[in-house]
Amino acid sequence: MKRKVAIAPSLLAADFARLGEETRAITRAGADYIHLDIMDGHFVPPITMGADMLRAVKPFSNKPFDVHLMVSPAANHLKSFAEAGADMLTVHPEADWHIHRLLQNIKHLGKRAGLALNPGSGAEKAAPLLDLTDLILVMSVNPGFGGQPFLESQLEKIARLRRMIDESGKPILLEVDGGVNDETAKKIRAAGADILVAGTAIFQGGESAYAANIARLRGETP
Ligand code: DX5
Ligand code: ZN
Repeated sequence: MKRKVAIAPSLLAADFARLGEETRAITRAGADYIHLDIMDGHFVPPITMGADMLRAVKPFSNKPFDVHLMVSPAANHLKSFAEAGADMLTVHPEADWHIHRLLQNIKHLGKRAGLALNPGSGAEKAAPLLDLTDLILVMSVNPGFGGQPFLESQLEKIARLRRMIDESGKPILLEVDGGVNDETAKKIRAAGADILVAGTAIFQGGESAYAANIARLRGETP
């Protein structure tokens, strides 16, 4: 069965001097979600953007804002991003002491809760959390930087999580983030992902190329 995947462009690779226009451009180009990579300089080395930046770009798209919190402790930042316009808040078990409570807190804020697994975290970490999770994000690079090569080792984890989700019968979305391009997207789709996050592969060739870049990641010939 050919799975129809959704595409979540990561603003990490956009022109930071024009983030509003870039958000509008990828929405017009066919993005299904807007992925924001929030980095605090502590959980990962770079510092990228905060809740005020989310608030600023929110009016430029009617698509769900998929906020990837690479911050620690994540508990300190849920409310501010929820109030700034996040539709989904994705957190790392590696970034907090109490991942179960963290996901509960996201749900209490009325947002969809995502669980992000670093390459060093196995699929089994998700097992006790499926009741609280709306999305599982498989990091196919080590977090912190765009433009890194895809870790092929994560394909087995993606396939295993696909089976876990299907057996659970729960409507959990399976998302993959890092090194997604025309080539790796084929393998990731085959492994059972629902959403592909991409930065470098989408924000290239200029705004007029965004729609074709997105279509190719879906496996559609532009
Ligand atoms: C890593 C980031 C990147 C980004 C996508 O922390 O999460 O994975 O979203 O980067 P590309 O698509 O350039 O690999
Ligand atoms: Zn991300």
